[in-house]
Amino acid sequence: MHHFDYTDGVLHAEGVNLATLADAVGTPFYCYSTATLERHYKVFADAFGELRPLVCYSVKANSNQAVIATLAALGAGMDVVSEGELRRALAAGVPADKIIFAGIGKQRSEMAYALDVGIHSFNVESEPELLALNEVAVEHGRVARIALRVNPDVDPKTHEKIATGKAENKFGVAYGEALRLYALAAEMQGLDAAGVHMHIGSQLTDLEPYRRAFTLLRKLVVQLRAAGHDISHVDLGGGLGVPYRGTNDIPPHPSEYAAVVHETLGDLEVRLAFEPGRMIAGNAGILVTEVIYSKPGDGKTFLIVDAAMNDLIRPTLYEAHHEIWPIDEAARAQELVPTDVVGPVCETGDYIARARPMPPLEPGARIAVMTAGAYGAVQSGTYNSRLLVPEILVNGAEFAVVRPRTTYEDLIGLDRLAPWLSKS
Ligand code: LLP
Repeated sequence: MHHFDYTDGVLHAEGVNLATLADAVGTPFYCYSTATLERHYKVFADAFGELRPLVCYSVKANSNQAVIATLAALGAGMDVVSEGELRRALAAGVPADKIIFAGIGKQRSEMAYALDVGIHSFNVESEPELLALNEVAVEHGRVARIALRVNPDVDPKTHEKIATGKAENKFGVAYGEALRLYALAAEMQGLDAAGVHMHIGSQLTDLEPYRRAFTLLRKLVVQLRAAGHDISHVDLGGGLGVPYRGTNDIPPHPSEYAAVVHETLGDLEVRLAFEPGRMIAGNAGILVTEVIYSKPGDGKTFLIVDAAMNDLIRPTLYEAHHEIWPIDEAARAQELVPTDVVGPVCETGDYIARARPMPPLEPGARIAVMTAGAYGAVQSGTYNSRLLVPEILVNGAEFAVVRPRTTYEDLIGLDRLAPWLSKS
């Protein structure tokens, strides 16, 4: 569920008229809904009842500090994968002891920074990383609390580029290696191996892979405890899918997911942690863009809009489907024609939708690309020397520009002519 809907014939974000907003800030822009972010966080966190897990929003999905602060105000912790994300979470006011640091390639300097600020724990993904973290912790006179990320070799049945829990993926340590590595970690004075971590993939729409993975994880916790390891913390990652096709593909509700967690791990007496990203932010954001030209193609229309693959790369990178809603509701009544919605970037792969039945929109018409709150703005770039688009956060009838559009000075001013090319 989200809070983008038509009022008096115009699409609104909560109480904000998106046509008026587009006039005020220009297109394209991302627009996020506070009520939707809050609702999703609460639905997820409340689904686990008395298990009271630490819900660490996965900052990579949408790292705008206003989004982070909105969730932190509800008690959310954060899952970060770089020093940059860690710094953003701290800058947004998240207490360090609610932050989990994941990722397969942590640098020693990043580890040292995270130890210094006192994060909750590290998710460790390999033996060399285990050794490096121990060394850094000892050097700094600290003990790093860790969870080893275990790869259960389970097919999450999602797009191949966002599957992480199969043996062939780069993530985690092999399930069969875990006991040896915990024994190794137990010998290291800079580590407290109190946790186990698993994350099998993103945009999961089937609970069975979770059930298989959590069952294996339960078995591992029992074995680890039998071997004398004090496991008190289990991080189950994120990955729950969102309905990119509206009511046509409703993924499992967090309560159904929580039932699987209860069934498989409910009696382990551990503090559970989760790292949902998309499920919180996906449906809480849209990308608003304007038609520049409408051009007839071979049996279809090309709607050339002012947003492009550099602003939203998901359609071309993951063959992702995003619903498109006209801002002007009246357009919905028109007969639909096969349409490719494309951007100005000079690549055939630059599209937002292909072969999509759309109303025949005129230049100047605005459309909303739905479910773009997760992995939208964060994956944007400046290809073709295009400016990064602004991000707007709506709260009831109010809105705030939470990241302004960059300027050409920002973009071009970063280059330096080499000394031998200087004009003077
Ligand atoms: N935890 C870990 C260790 C992860 O790798 C991820 C996502 C998450 C949590 C959050 O997963 P979520 O709840 O958002 O599914 N850019 C891609 C998605 C990449 C996901 C990367 N890892 C996309 O646009 O579909």
